[in-house]
Amino acid sequence: MKLFTSVHDVPSIKQFVNDALALKANPYAHQGLGKNKTLGLVFMNPSLRTRLSTQKAALNLGMNVMVMNLDKEGWALETQDGVVMNGSTVEHIREAAAVMGQYCDILGLRSFPKLNNREEDYNEDFFTKFVKYCAIPVVSLESATRHPLQSFADIITIHETWDSLKVGANVKPKVVLAWAPHVKALPQAVPNSFAEWMCKAQAEGMIDFTVAQPEGYELSENFTPGAEITYNLEEALAGADYVYVKNWSSYKEYGKVLTYPDGWMMNNEKLKITNNAKVMHCLPVRRDLELSSEILDGPNSLVIHEAGNRLWSAQAVLKAMLEEL
Ligand code: CP
Repeated sequence: MKLFTSVHDVPSIKQFVNDALALKANPYAHQGLGKNKTLGLVFMNPSLRTRLSTQKAALNLGMNVMVMNLDKEGWALETQDGVVMNGSTVEHIREAAAVMGQYCDILGLRSFPKLNNREEDYNEDFFTKFVKYCAIPVVSLESATRHPLQSFADIITIHETWDSLKVGANVKPKVVLAWAPHVKALPQAVPNSFAEWMCKAQAEGMIDFTVAQPEGYELSENFTPGAEITYNLEEALAGADYVYVKNWSSYKEYGKVLTYPDGWMMNNEKLKITNNAKVMHCLPVRRDLELSSEILDGPNSLVIHEAGNRLWSAQAVLKAMLEEL
């Protein structure tokens, strides 16, 4: 594997999940694979889980790791071509990415969308240029439109906790992506990515997938092929086995927080409609705004288990990249 930016980089979800679970069962089996190899992690935005889990994954494989908060610790970057750099930018992405490519064998990059211009964000301009100019394998630590390490950890978590899947039975879990309230405009990267992975998992016969959101918050159709889409949360929750709670800003009215009807926060009352569903969230989560404390602190929450699996999704991806160096 040379690039990991979406589910399209993964031939078979089932196989990749099994690879990750083998690493979870035996984390240090491939310590020699990363010997004398260096992973560089480049952050343009904050992170807790991605930063720590990806470092730990690399250490488990015997790699060296360097981390740079490029937005704060690097020179102000110019990303546009053909500009005279007589303003505030100091270094062009062409040189910055190329230099980092000289020091590392694999790079990870986190770069959020600006949420001002949909076309610019959905073109993944920054990410694409970084990949081109560093000229070494790159793993996405969350881009403008996707968060594939998170989504991979999410499907690992569903697979692990769904007994029927574990024993190969034909009963598929109903997985619901449920929009939740927030006070800020958040990217669509996590829900886009989750939907994309779930739609592929649905196509592989692993799950049934539904997305519920208020009007105006529909995701781009490119990320939801084959998904059931509804504006009715209660209808979506009926019989759900997994509820993935997440806020996102509007794709249609790009980056805006729109008004929405009451009742979109997941709580124990709504849990009663489900099939005693497990509740997931990528974290960080705003308690009692996005998701109730009673759920987060209760037996149905998978959020810590899910965050733990970030380690195995990262380790499976790094292992696949190291094997092709
Ligand atoms: N879920 C997730 O990516 O967490 P961080 O932003 O803390 O890395």
